Amino acid sequence: MEKMKCNTIYNMDCIEGMKLIPDNTINLVITDPPFAIDFKAKRSNYNRTASRVLEGYKEIPKEEYYSFALNWIKEVYRVSKESGSMYVFSGWNNLKDILMALDEVGFITVNHIVWKYQFGVVTKRKFVSSHYHCLYVCKNDEKRKFFPYSRYNKEERGENNGSLHYRDKEDVWVINREYWNGDVKTPTKLPAELIKKILEYSSEEGDVVMDPFLGSGQVAVVSKMLNRQYIGFEIVKEYYDFARERLQKNLYRIKEEEKISQMSLFDFNSGRGWNKMSFLDNAKRIAKELKHIPKLWNGKKAILEMKKDDYNQWQQMEWMGFYFQFLCEKYLKSIMEIPGPKYGNVKFDSFKNIPWDFKAHAMNTSSHQIIVNDSKATAGGIKDYREVGLILAIGEVLYNDENRTFQKWHESLKGGKSQYEIERIKRGAWSRLRKVSFVLKQISFIKITDKTLVKCGSFQSDFRNSNGRPRRAKVLIDLEKINEELIYFVEF
Ligand SMILES: C[S@@+](CC[C@H](N)C(=O)[O-])C[C@H]1O[C@@H](n2cnc3c(N)ncnc32)[C@H](O)[C@@H]1O
Repeated sequence: MEKMKCNTIYNMDCIEGMKLIPDNTINLVITDPPFAIDFKAKRSNYNRTASRVLEGYKEIPKEEYYSFALNWIKEVYRVSKESGSMYVFSGWNNLKDILMALDEVGFITVNHIVWKYQFGVVTKRKFVSSHYHCLYVCKNDEKRKFFPYSRYNKEERGENNGSLHYRDKEDVWVINREYWNGDVKTPTKLPAELIKKILEYSSEEGDVVMDPFLGSGQVAVVSKMLNRQYIGFEIVKEYYDFARERLQKNLYRIKEEEKISQMSLFDFNSGRGWNKMSFLDNAKRIAKELKHIPKLWNGKKAILEMKKDDYNQWQQMEWMGFYFQFLCEKYLKSIMEIPGPKYGNVKFDSFKNIPWDFKAHAMNTSSHQIIVNDSKATAGGIKDYREVGLILAIGEVLYNDENRTFQKWHESLKGGKSQYEIERIKRGAWSRLRKVSFVLKQISFIKITDKTLVKCGSFQSDFRNSNGRPRRAKVLIDLEKINEELIYFVEF
């Protein structure tokens, strides 16, 4: 793109703006143009408190609506790629103008989707409007991108054994509007789940997604979150500023009073507000990155690698768990917040919609218990997010260190025995054999809820930290009792 840059939004008239975009450059357009219904942003907008609604929404006079639609749709057609498509939202009032303009310009209609939302304005003498139209159109029906199994596999079944991908592809979409209590908001805003669904079916990571009528910037914000490129226009300065702030600060919601983050882009659909991006979606996304981590972990090499990167846990005797954490931090930093939220003195390892911990576990051991996190942190995480996640690397460990050469090597690298070892010797404790290497076999994604703790959890309280002091109570999960909590796994 020569004159207009990707991953940028512009405070200008979209018709003027799109003229600066070269032909055949945009992969997908998702847009919700203004309706010519004399919409007064501050007056009615769906029972919301007027004071927190940004002013100045730009409407189009009814008599100019068709020529306005024709002008912007012509530009969209020109800048769209042959494989490109567009989803246009429209109320029923001006639907015919939009349909006529789409035909006139040459777009091919693929689907006429109805978006059913959960509330409308109460009426006495007619039916309540609780749907929008969404027209899915393309330039070339042979070439347009569509990924039928991007959200559900062919085999996935839901209630009554119904096919999930079939249901998801029906052309009536029941998706709730979002309530943004106490936040700054723009009067009409598409729910993120709606945009996510379109992005997943009709685009790939890296594609350029355009919204000529940004409003609060929803399309750009959700595109960014799903690793698409974005570009867009908004004519009203206040809306543009709001959208830009969200994009620049990676914030999904902005609180009015302090203008601070209510939710970051990464937790935008966590259990705190609404919970659409499921544990499984997150697990799959994380697994996609973790598939690239090394499979054979040589203890000495791993310790040297951590030391070289100034990763301060390289001195730890139990290098395997720390090395997995080190790898996760490296491979997941672009899609997760690292570290995660703090409860008391303890932090979760990361955050993506919910708090997550990274752990590694030897499969060739009699122990099937795994220490998860501090019990207060686990309880706090579950209270705030309903669930927390465990990303568990499982592999075969070699303990081949009878002569303690590995241990001696590690001690000399550290410059002597650790305080922990000294304390252990003082207490007369056995020194454990060191793990020399680890072959990764599987990474599991385990959901921990209150129910999991009751069913598979216990508390470990009488152990000691590396400084020899008694450790805070930790949650232990019994892997043999894990069943439906294992939501997803990848094998190596
Ligand atoms: C229905 S709203 C879009 C809401 C948006 N989808 C969201 O989720 O927040 C339409 C937006 O288009 C803007 N607008 C109207 N005419 C425009 C134009 N010619 N160029 C760019 N933006 C325009 C309005 O100010 C309004 O913010």
